[in-house]
Amino acid sequence: MDYFNYQGDSLYAEACAVTELAKQYQTPLYVYSRATIERHWHAFDQAAGELPHLVCYAVKANSNLAVLNVMARLGSGFDIVSKGELARVIAAGGDPAKVVFSGVGKTSDEIAYALSHGIYCFNIESAAELERINHVAGKAGKKAPVSFRVNPDVDAGTHPYISTGLKENKFGISIEEAPALYQHAATLANVDIKGVDCHIGSQLTEVQPFLDALDRVLVLVDTLAEQGIKLSHIDVGGGLGVCYNDEQPPHPNEYAKAIAEKIAGRNITLIYEPGRAIMANAGILVTEVEFLKTNQDKHFAIVDAAMNDLLRPSLYQAWQNIIPVEQRQDEPNINYDIVGPICETGDFLGKDRELAIKAGDLLAVRSAGAYGFTMSSNYNSRPRVAEVMVDGDTSTLVRERETIEQLWQGEHLLP
Ligand code: LLP
Repeated sequence: MDYFNYQGDSLYAEACAVTELAKQYQTPLYVYSRATIERHWHAFDQAAGELPHLVCYAVKANSNLAVLNVMARLGSGFDIVSKGELARVIAAGGDPAKVVFSGVGKTSDEIAYALSHGIYCFNIESAAELERINHVAGKAGKKAPVSFRVNPDVDAGTHPYISTGLKENKFGISIEEAPALYQHAATLANVDIKGVDCHIGSQLTEVQPFLDALDRVLVLVDTLAEQGIKLSHIDVGGGLGVCYNDEQPPHPNEYAKAIAEKIAGRNITLIYEPGRAIMANAGILVTEVEFLKTNQDKHFAIVDAAMNDLLRPSLYQAWQNIIPVEQRQDEPNINYDIVGPICETGDFLGKDRELAIKAGDLLAVRSAGAYGFTMSSNYNSRPRVAEVMVDGDTSTLVRERETIEQLWQGEHLLP
């Protein structure tokens, strides 16, 4: 459920008319709904019930400071993958003590920075990383809280680019080799073993792969306990899918409950790392139709947003719904490809969409709150777009549109 709905023929973001937002802030424009973010976050938080738990929002999905701040105010934790993301969390008022640090390539500098801010846990992805963390913590005179990301070899059944739990993926360590690594970690002076972590992929539309992965993780937890290594948390990663088209993913409540039930009675803290499930349907990308064009019998709507603003359709052939901001009855429905101005055939936001539109109309690309702005770039020297958050009938510009001068900020001519 989200808060982007039609009132009459006009699309609203909560109580703000999207047409008015476009007038005020221009297009292309990302619009986020605070009520939707909070609703989704609470769904995860409440489903775990009495079980000790922490929702660590995956910052990569949308790292705008206002987005992070909304969650920080709820008491959220955060899943980060870089120094930059941790710096954002701190700048947004997030609590570093509720931060887990994921990712396969943490640098010594990033590790030192995270240690200095007292993060909750490092999710270690290799034996070499364990050595590095132990070394950096030793130099800092600290003990690093660690967890190992294990690879349960479960097929998440999602797009190959975002499936991470199989043997052939670069992520995690094999679950068979994990006990030996935990034993080794227990001998190191500067690490403190806290938990276990697994993340099998993104946009999963079934609960079963999560539960299969968790079963394997629980066997590991028991094996470690027998060997005298007691874990204080299980981090089940993120990955819950959303409805872009006709997918029917489990509701966050259903997903989080199923997981919490498996863990209940174990006296262990449960960590979730949801990104998309909180943010995707909390955002839209608003774009204006510049031209309608027909080549032979193919119809194109050329819009002012492009693959640099929203990469998912081009990169993953992802389908995101595209709807008119003002529905009109005075034009026929025509099958359009919605394309941007970038000089690449792969620059499209959607193909074969039935729409009744005219040049100058506004369109909204739905489900654009996650992996939208964060994956945007300046390709074709296009300034990154503005972001707005609505809260009831109020809107706030949470990121200014980049200026042309900012495009070459930090660039230098030869002497
Ligand atoms: N935790 C870890 C360790 C992750 O790698 C990810 C996402 C998450 C949590 C959050 O997963 P989520 O709940 O959002 O599925 N750019 C792609 C998605 C890449 C996901 C990468 N990892 C897309 O636009 O579909």
